[in-house]
Amino acid sequence: MRFSRRMDALPPYLFAEIERKIIEKRKSGVDVISLGIGDPDLPTPAYIVEEMQRQVADPRNHQYPSNAGVPEFGEAAAAYMARRFGVNIDSKNEFFPLLGSKEGLAHICWSTLDAGDVALVPDPGYPVYSAASLLAGAEVVTMPLLAENHFLPDLDAVDPDVAARAKLMFLSYPNNPTAAVTVGDFFERVVAFAKRYDIAVVHDNAYCELVFDGYEAPSFLATPGAMDVGVEFFSLSKPFNMTGWRAGFGVGNREILEPLWRLKTNLDSGMFTAIQRTAAFVLNGPWDFVHEMNAVYAGRRDVLLEALTNIGLAAPTPKATIYIWVPVPEGYTSTSFAGHVLDQAGVVVTPGTGYGAAGEGFVRISLTAPDARIREAVDRIERSLRI
Ligand SMILES: Cc1ncc(COP(=O)(O)O)c(C=O)c1O
Repeated sequence: MRFSRRMDALPPYLFAEIERKIIEKRKSGVDVISLGIGDPDLPTPAYIVEEMQRQVADPRNHQYPSNAGVPEFGEAAAAYMARRFGVNIDSKNEFFPLLGSKEGLAHICWSTLDAGDVALVPDPGYPVYSAASLLAGAEVVTMPLLAENHFLPDLDAVDPDVAARAKLMFLSYPNNPTAAVTVGDFFERVVAFAKRYDIAVVHDNAYCELVFDGYEAPSFLATPGAMDVGVEFFSLSKPFNMTGWRAGFGVGNREILEPLWRLKTNLDSGMFTAIQRTAAFVLNGPWDFVHEMNAVYAGRRDVLLEALTNIGLAAPTPKATIYIWVPVPEGYTSTSFAGHVLDQAGVVVTPGTGYGAAGEGFVRISLTAPDARIREAVDRIERSLRI
C-alpha cells in the first residue's frame, strides 16, 4: 500500500510515544508515576456532569449540531470575554465552537497557510502548531523561547525576509511547556509586528484560568489593535477537568475565523449540541470549582518545588499552568534525563526537546498527581540519581 508523502514530514506524536512507554512499563510490573501528560487526574465536577446528563436526555440535542454553535454557547462565550477580560465580541460572527482547542489549532493552518508560506512557531511549543503547519505544506520557522527573555520570543530576531513570508504566528501565554506568562508590553509588540508584516496571530489561551498567587492571565484580544490581527482559542479541558469532552471555542477577528469555519463545515459536523449547551452552562458559572482546583495545583506546585529543591533540582515558581519547567542536572540531556528517570525511578516526565530543540536542558513535570505521589516521585528520582 502507498500512503501520502505529507505523512513523511510528521513525527510520531510525543504523547502517543509516552503513552506507549507507560503501558510497556506497567505491563512489566512497574508502578509508574506519570507526571508526563497535562491531563488533570481529578474528575469533571458533579454539577457539570449532572447538567450534561440533563442535556443528553433532551431530544432537541440529538440531531446534527450547528457548526456555528447554538446561540447560548456564543452568548456565554461573549459574556465570559466581556466579564473576564473586558473584550467585546459578536457572538454570531466572532465566535464558534471547537472540538477541543487542538482541533482549531490544527485546522487554522489549513485555512491560512499555503505551500511555501511561513508559520512562526514558538520553540519549545505545543507540538500541533508545527505539525499542522507542516501538513499544510508550510515552512515552519521557530522562535526560540529562552530563559533570558522570560520565555517570550524575540521578535526583533525574526529575519525580516522570513517575517514578510509569514502568514501565521502561534503564541500561548500562560505557556506550555515553560509555564511562563506574558511580561510588560509583549502583546503590544506582537500586534505591531503582525500589522507590519500582515500576519495572523493565533493566541492559544488554554491555560488562562489555571493561575496562582493572585495572578490574572490576560486575553491577547484585550491588547489594543489585537482584534485586527488575531484570534484566540479557549478550552474547557484544563480548568474544568474536561479533557475528554473535547470542548473549546475560538473568538476574534472574523476575517481569520471565516475561512476556518468554512473549512470546518466541510470537514466536521460540529460539536454535540448537548456539549455546547453544557459548555454555555459552565461558562456562565459558578467558577468556584476552578478556584478550588487552582488551590489544589498551587499546593502540589509547592510540594514539588520544595522536594526538587531539596535534591538540588531547583526550578522557578510558575504563576500559572499545571507544569514545572525543570532544568536537568549536569551530565544529562533532556532525553537522557527523562529516560533515566523512567527506567530507574518509574517516573514519567516529558523531555523538553519533545517541544522543540530549544527545550534542550529541561524536562516538564505536570502537577497531575496527588501530593503523596509527587513526593514519592521526587524521592524515587533522588534515589535514581545516586545510581
Ligand atoms: C498549549 C495547549 N494548547 C491547547 C491544548 C489542547 O487542549 P484541548 O483539550 O482544548 O484540545 C493543550 C493540551 O494539552 C495545550 O497544552
